[in-house]
Amino acid sequence: MIVLAFPELESIGGKVAEGLGSQFHLIQKKIFPDGESYVRIGTDVKDEDIVLVQTTYPEQDKRLLELFYAIDTIRSHGARSVEVVLTYLAYARQDREFLPGEAVSVRTVLRLLGAVGVNTLYAVDVHKPESLEYFPGQAKNIIPSRVFSRKLEDLNLRNPIVVSPDLGASHRAKALASELGCECFIIRKHRDRITGQIRHELPEDIDVKGKEAVVVDDIISTGGTVANIASFLRKCGASRVFVAASHGLFVDEALRKLRNAGVDRVLTLNTLATKVNDSLIEYVDVSPELVRVLRNMVSGTL
Ligand code: R5P
Repeated sequence: MIVLAFPELESIGGKVAEGLGSQFHLIQKKIFPDGESYVRIGTDVKDEDIVLVQTTYPEQDKRLLELFYAIDTIRSHGARSVEVVLTYLAYARQDREFLPGEAVSVRTVLRLLGAVGVNTLYAVDVHKPESLEYFPGQAKNIIPSRVFSRKLEDLNLRNPIVVSPDLGASHRAKALASELGCECFIIRKHRDRITGQIRHELPEDIDVKGKEAVVVDDIISTGGTVANIASFLRKCGASRVFVAASHGLFVDEALRKLRNAGVDRVLTLNTLATKVNDSLIEYVDVSPELVRVLRNMVSGTL
């Protein structure tokens, strides 16, 4: 088995290779003066089982094209199998036609990955895991609850409760609460049909007074979703608010919004090619979870 990674994920690729006891090679790439991408697999992949590790943020379209070039090349050079590990699957939120005629972008991305020759796809915390059904081969969603729970245990929370911002994120909240051995609940969201304003509500049997709330989500983009939930939880009496969000994009004024909402700490994974240096954010390494899942794949227990 050979592990390959693009330069963006050199560190994660190296740790995955070490964990699997495999060779590790970097994929070479550059941009031509006219903006076109060049990719080169500088190692012999004939008859090898390949694990390719990559993220697709930032510059989603460029990262995806580079990925397609790499997989097609690996296939043309006679690799026996190609497993792709995407630490971040771009376009996952465009998973249906919200308006007639819209592109279901994640479906196209997953179909193309299948078309260029990916056997199995592993993706970290996909927005809706069901969208992986668009991939023509086998696909697995990696939920990072173990790595998050270890980090939260290090923070010695006294009375934690896990919070899901909506029904769609409840699988994440349940997985994390089960790791932490604590309660979890889903926030109820009501939208006023006339003003469009959103009102949050706790389930009747839930009291967050004096508790340390851990809000779980897949993505922080503009920070609006998590900030609204955090200020609501603060108003309900939560003593502290932590956030465990897999993919921290932190675009625009996200950090300011999170701070103003009373968020104490944001835990996020190193799934992207960007890192934001800010005292509010703590990065959690996703590699141990990738190694665990891939080892199961190698030993045939997946
Ligand atoms: C929405 O369903 C997603 O799970 C995230 O909550 C959302 O994409 C986060 O975006 P933002 O940070 O811009 O609110």
